[in-house]
Amino acid sequence: MKIAVLKEQAAGEARVAATPETVKKFIGLGAQVAVEAGAGLTASVADADYAAAGASVADRAATVAGADIVLGVQGPDVASIAGANPGAWIVAGLNPFGERARVDAYAAAGYEALAMEFMPRITRAQSMDILSSQSNLSGYKAVLDAASEYGKAFPMMMTAAGTVSAARAFIMGVGVAGLQAIATARRLGAQVSATDVRAATKEQIESLGAKAIFVEKVAGIEGEGSGGYATEMSDEYKAAQAELISSHIAKQDIVITTALIPGRPAPRLITDAQIASMKPGSVIVDLAVEQGGNVEGAVAGEVVVRHGVKIVGHRNVPSRLATDTSALFSRNLFNFLSAFWDKEKGAPVLDEEIGNAIRLTQGGKVVNERLLG
Ligand code: NAI
Repeated sequence: MKIAVLKEQAAGEARVAATPETVKKFIGLGAQVAVEAGAGLTASVADADYAAAGASVADRAATVAGADIVLGVQGPDVASIAGANPGAWIVAGLNPFGERARVDAYAAAGYEALAMEFMPRITRAQSMDILSSQSNLSGYKAVLDAASEYGKAFPMMMTAAGTVSAARAFIMGVGVAGLQAIATARRLGAQVSATDVRAATKEQIESLGAKAIFVEKVAGIEGEGSGGYATEMSDEYKAAQAELISSHIAKQDIVITTALIPGRPAPRLITDAQIASMKPGSVIVDLAVEQGGNVEGAVAGEVVVRHGVKIVGHRNVPSRLATDTSALFSRNLFNFLSAFWDKEKGAPVLDEEIGNAIRLTQGGKVVNERLLG
């Protein structure tokens, strides 16, 4: 059983899919691990550290030659893993809706592609969930990015020269990233409020010491929503939400948006007119910018200024904290593969619940129902 760890090829991707810690653990399971030279450099891991953990370090061709499992942060180009074994598993964040052509190419090449972002939200899979581990740190980093773009301080400060007032921060979308953003903004001393469409988040917002801002005229999504996910809201709900947000947002200094709907473009939460109502110098961070954006005028990969308000649209926010996000991502992959490790076969064997959820391709075909439906 050979596991290959690739150096990421995508522009701006600094993460790596295995660390010396997980390499050692894979070897402990009886696997042989090959790491592409330089794979960890942007995440602060030297080739020598992988070698010390027991991996062989080589160029890409030698790394993938004869591999049974190929690990990546993002999906590799199919041509670049041509030497892997027939039927090899590709285990990574595969962006199945955004990179459909690549999924088809994996099928045509006979690989079994496993999309880690399709991991079901069930208790036993929590430690394998890359969306949670990466979103958590994105929520934290979004607040730091806002603070560094903001020309004022977050906490209230009483100084001999007078008082600095606390920043008001509003978090829109209270999933994993939003919860961490609330906690981080609170730690920095901001006055924090937050909103979501899922009713269950109200209590979570309040338990973190923030104020919950909720649409009351029209019902949102009961409880957690299906699998913890939101759906597209009705036009009536959207109108009520826009009205509520308009009056609240004009008083905010910092807004962090994190709202996503699986398989669909991100919902538009902030209009240009609402941006115009904010004070000059305010900062908006749109964490959903790569999925279409929550904020009108946000541009992926840029910080733009509209009506004196900075709109931050960094791409790939987890990569901005590559050392920690790589460590968590790598553990997610190890937790997943080791949970299914069959000692006699010396290889992982998936069960139906998780296998069917994450398997995109098998036997030359695309097999995942979310891609077929
Ligand atoms: P997400 O990244 O899909 O969406 C972020 C947030 O945006 C969600 O809270 C969603 O309700 C909200 N949102 C969507 N449309 C909106 C709108 N129009 N206005 C305002 N907010 C909107 O969600 P994420 O962070 O991946 O997880 C959501 C929940 O799933 C978590 O809070 C958790 O309860 C659950 N979860 C469970 C896991 C498990 O049991 N293994 C793992 C991960 C999450």
